[in-house]
Amino acid sequence: MLDELSQGLVNKTEARLKLAIQERDIPSQLSAAMSYSLLGAGKRIRALLCYAAGQALNAPMQRLECASAALECLHCYSLIHDDLPAMDDDDLRRGKATSHIKFDEATAILAGDALQAIAYDLICSDPAFNDTQARKLCNLLAQSSGAVGMVGGQMLDILATQEKLELTALENVHRRKTGALISAAVVSGALCSDNPAQDQIDALGEYGECIGLAFQVVDDILDIESSTAELGKPSGADIALEKSTYPALIGLDASKQLAEKLYQQAIASLAPIGDNSGLLKNLATLIIHRRY
Ligand code: IPE
Ligand code: IPE
Ligand code: MG
Ligand code: MG
Ligand code: MG
Repeated sequence: MLDELSQGLVNKTEARLKLAIQERDIPSQLSAAMSYSLLGAGKRIRALLCYAAGQALNAPMQRLECASAALECLHCYSLIHDDLPAMDDDDLRRGKATSHIKFDEATAILAGDALQAIAYDLICSDPAFNDTQARKLCNLLAQSSGAVGMVGGQMLDILATQEKLELTALENVHRRKTGALISAAVVSGALCSDNPAQDQIDALGEYGECIGLAFQVVDDILDIESSTAELGKPSGADIALEKSTYPALIGLDASKQLAEKLYQQAIASLAPIGDNSGLLKNLATLIIHRRY
């Protein structure tokens, strides 16, 4: 699915994440649970988006490695908590038992908490960033993953279970719970560059907003269309949980058309980035056409 260059970036992220756990003195049960959910799986889309935006603006590799790893720590924390019995109550994630099934609920909650904190520690302790860059990045990650972003979206998602939302309300849930961190992944790549121009940050933000929403629309579609083997978790889970999703609200065909429209918008918004936007375009294609 990935070309050689992107696979190399995924490998770099994997190595940085492994080191992040190894170089800290963590109680063994906690470190086992963190490694279990963090390492060796996942598409690493958020990491790749960060690299792609950063490379488009000539950001140094060491900063991109760090920011990408921080994004994946936040994302993995969100997955562990999303699967908990009090949330979506899923037994499978990425083809294996979820954290609370493999370990226990308390360990899963703490592994998520610890991964969240490590994300900020990684950025604040990496000498490749100056203080201003680290502050801006932490601010972006906190806003996109916190109460106004992902966590806020998860709250609305839970409240909307067994309810039929209006389209604008559903869009708000999806933009927050998934779109915000994906968009932040793109902008974080730009913030790793030395002097990003505001029009380029804005263009990348617009691209990130479009593919961020498209990502969750496709996630909703795949929950219906992909097999459990492809997804690595049960398909049809949204229907079983009576979740508010795009296919439930507007149907499968209209959901696919919306994903395609958002893809076109994302590509169009990359105009100010110029010749260096190849990887960003490929990632937009990957997000729309993925099977899991
Ligand atoms: C799944 O994200 C959760 C959502 C936000 C929809 P991904 O599909 O990126 O999960 P991994 O990291 O590849 O497993
Ligand atoms: C997850 O949305 C959003 C997160 C913040 C993790 P879903 O609940 O639809 O993600 P999956 O389908 O379990 O991966
Ligand atoms: Mg969920
Ligand atoms: Mg879920
Ligand atoms: Mg889903």
